[in-house]
Amino acid sequence: MKYRVTISSSNVSFDIEPSQTILEASLLAGINIPFGCRNGSCGSCKGKIISGQVFCDEYQQSAMTDDEKTNGYTLCCQSYVSSNVELDIKLSKFDNNLPEPKITPVRVESLVKLNHDVMRMTLKLPGSNSLEFLAGQYLEFIMTDGSRRAYSIASPPHEDLLELHLRLIDGGKFTHFVFEEMQEKSIHRIEAPIGQFFLRESKKPIIFIAGGTGFAPIKSVIEDMFHNGNKRTIYLYQGVRSGKDLYMDKLCLEWCEAFEQFNYIPVFSEPNKKDNIEIRTGLVHEAVLNDFESFENFQVYSCGPPILIESAYSSLLGKGLLEDDFFADAFTFAPQKK
Ligand code: FES
Repeated sequence: MKYRVTISSSNVSFDIEPSQTILEASLLAGINIPFGCRNGSCGSCKGKIISGQVFCDEYQQSAMTDDEKTNGYTLCCQSYVSSNVELDIKLSKFDNNLPEPKITPVRVESLVKLNHDVMRMTLKLPGSNSLEFLAGQYLEFIMTDGSRRAYSIASPPHEDLLELHLRLIDGGKFTHFVFEEMQEKSIHRIEAPIGQFFLRESKKPIIFIAGGTGFAPIKSVIEDMFHNGNKRTIYLYQGVRSGKDLYMDKLCLEWCEAFEQFNYIPVFSEPNKKDNIEIRTGLVHEAVLNDFESFENFQVYSCGPPILIESAYSSLLGKGLLEDDFFADAFTFAPQKK
């Protein structure tokens, strides 16, 4: 059975299956409802139900307040429908500029460990095909059982191979498979490109806040900026627990040497005794907060665990950052219950 979702303010509508979220169905229909985390953490996909039956699954309180829920709001990434629905939501301004996602086979070209728990994987498309994507977008591995795993593309669009950074997750079937069994030259299927984490036009300086492998899409955006001669000032805050969790530090230091507009600030939340004592310590978003008087004239791009995105979002908005100048890509973990 199919229902229909209508976004009256934009005069568009699309079909939806009961098993799909409103966000999934809209993206498949080529209608760009804005989104960030896709797990009920950031609030980017919030819309108002005008009519119809909508069930909103688990989400974080910071993404939608009880008052908003009572007043008819819902989070499209967590919402399923059981009737035709009319929705009010502002669509993304970038509707027509995003490359179409496609399903394609890929060959694993290399698997190289970057530190104790992060693997760099490179992938090649068949023949001389390349993937059209915007720096910062992600791809999904399609498993044989149909389930999917999302990974940000860490390479810039002008490079032939797609680069991913995969962190070994405790109990994570796919990452254990990658670390222990996956073979170079093996063939897999992906769908790409997906996502709305990419650089927006502006002259404002940029603060990138990365948590762990949240560095991946940020690396893609920064390398794309360098490649295109974009001279906007960049501050990259890289948050990890300690020195052993840092990776591609050397690359960031090389960028500091080569590009005067680039500034690099690693931050350790749980430094150990062997770590360089000059490295900043504490939570990465707090280091950012401490370094600037106001964020009114900045754009901020953050990628990492939902808790990092939430903390950065609320604290930076409290210090002048405009809501429209915050862009996030949260790792997809199950959201905490309200
Ligand atoms: S809450 Fe839906 S995309 Fe973040």
